[in-house]
Amino acid sequence: SNEQIALFTIFGGTGDLAKRKLYPSLFRLYRKGFLKERFAVIGTARREWTDDYFREVVKESLIDFDSSENELDSFASHFYYQSHNVTETEHYHNLKKLATALDEKYRLNQNRIFYLAMAPNFFGLITEHLKSEKIVTPDGFNRLIIEKPFGTDYNSAAKLNDEIRGAFEEDQIFRIDHYLGKEMIQNISAIRFGNNILESLWNNKYIDNVQVTLAEALGVEERGGYYDKSGALKDMIQNHTLQVVSLLAMEAPAIFTEKNIREEKIKALNSVRIYSPEEVKQNFVRGQYGAGKLAGKEFINYRDELNVDPQSETETFVAGKLMIDNFRWRGVPFYVRSGKQLTEKGTRINIVFKPTPINVFRSENETACQAQDTPRNILTIYIQPTEGFSLTLNGKEIGDGFNINPVKMDFRHSADTLDNSPEAYEKLILDCLKGDSTNFTHWDEVAQSWRIVDVIRHVWDQETTEFPNYASGTMGPQAAFDLLERDGFNWIWNP
Ligand code: BG6
Repeated sequence: SNEQIALFTIFGGTGDLAKRKLYPSLFRLYRKGFLKERFAVIGTARREWTDDYFREVVKESLIDFDSSENELDSFASHFYYQSHNVTETEHYHNLKKLATALDEKYRLNQNRIFYLAMAPNFFGLITEHLKSEKIVTPDGFNRLIIEKPFGTDYNSAAKLNDEIRGAFEEDQIFRIDHYLGKEMIQNISAIRFGNNILESLWNNKYIDNVQVTLAEALGVEERGGYYDKSGALKDMIQNHTLQVVSLLAMEAPAIFTEKNIREEKIKALNSVRIYSPEEVKQNFVRGQYGAGKLAGKEFINYRDELNVDPQSETETFVAGKLMIDNFRWRGVPFYVRSGKQLTEKGTRINIVFKPTPINVFRSENETACQAQDTPRNILTIYIQPTEGFSLTLNGKEIGDGFNINPVKMDFRHSADTLDNSPEAYEKLILDCLKGDSTNFTHWDEVAQSWRIVDVIRHVWDQETTEFPNYASGTMGPQAAFDLLERDGFNWIWNP
């Protein structure tokens, strides 16, 4: 059977992430039969809640599902609340008592998943107590799921990691990067390693440049307090973007298993050039949104957002050029960009192939050097909101004469398929239940990603900015366009 058996303890059980993502994901797993009778959830936070109240909150988080009161009740009956102050050792005793009782009641084989869905300042303290107070069990599995941010730079991440590693082994730690749970991110490997016509061209002989865009239409909303201390570089580039880059750049694994994939991803990240301060200035640009109009709505300056410093120098946009110094990629720029309040929400990858060596369709009075290149073939991978891929190929335009005309071969998943496809969090929680950490970030990946990003942050911290420098509803500051134009390219996706 597919049934998974475990006790979840969710720190931050009253929080936004728990309500928006975790409870709905657990419910989906329940409906699909991955969770049946043998699971229980302890929600903890400082607030004093009763089990009944907690269960109402859980049920409220499921209003978007079309389900009977009965089904909701039997699901919610597996949820228990324990008010908990993470700094008080005694409180861990209560937690332990409850965990033991639930373990017996639901026959959970001492399998435990600890989910830290809260601010990271207490991660070390919590994991230490889980061990010292023997809430981790001797016989079942014990796994720790951690939400980002994992540190704020290399040093703080290393410190945090040491603390956690005092209580959990690397293979018990599941660091969430929710992009790795997205269908089309996982599809990158299928497209590359399942198609010889693509993989055999996947190198610096045939690829001109690679473009990765993680664009958002929303601003910071209610998260100004967190975001103003983070900025786009740490919020989106260090984690999600570099993970996508590693999947695009990695060598083929010997076989598609966790260990082999991980090794290749780490090798790819290790080949990303760490820039000197001078190179940072040439290759990375930042932006902050100003007021603007988007789809008829008026938007305010980032600096006027709730809980944002009115003189904030925090970037809400980053564009950059990464170079990967290995045999496969030497000389091929990987352009990345991410920002808030851009023209539209869209995560896309464009692989831009080199033109044919010579344009044989040029006119007779042009030399091969004078002629324009044939239009480039482009493979686009649409991650979200639409999911699919397309490939542009050149054909002959119908009619007399001989004009070359690019045509797009387009594949999109249907709305039906998408409705039934599992959510990122659902997939990742199921992976964790099964003990598969392929789609989680290993410490070595986190560490290297920070090394890449730290030098950029460092240069930026030395210089003042002229913010805001892009209007809401545009695709970022002019400098982000100049970055590619300087190299003779442009952003393929330019909504
Ligand atoms: C999160 C960032 O990691 O990813 C947010 O903290 C961002 O700022 C979000 O909005 C984007 O995720 P998605 O799944 O909506 O693309």
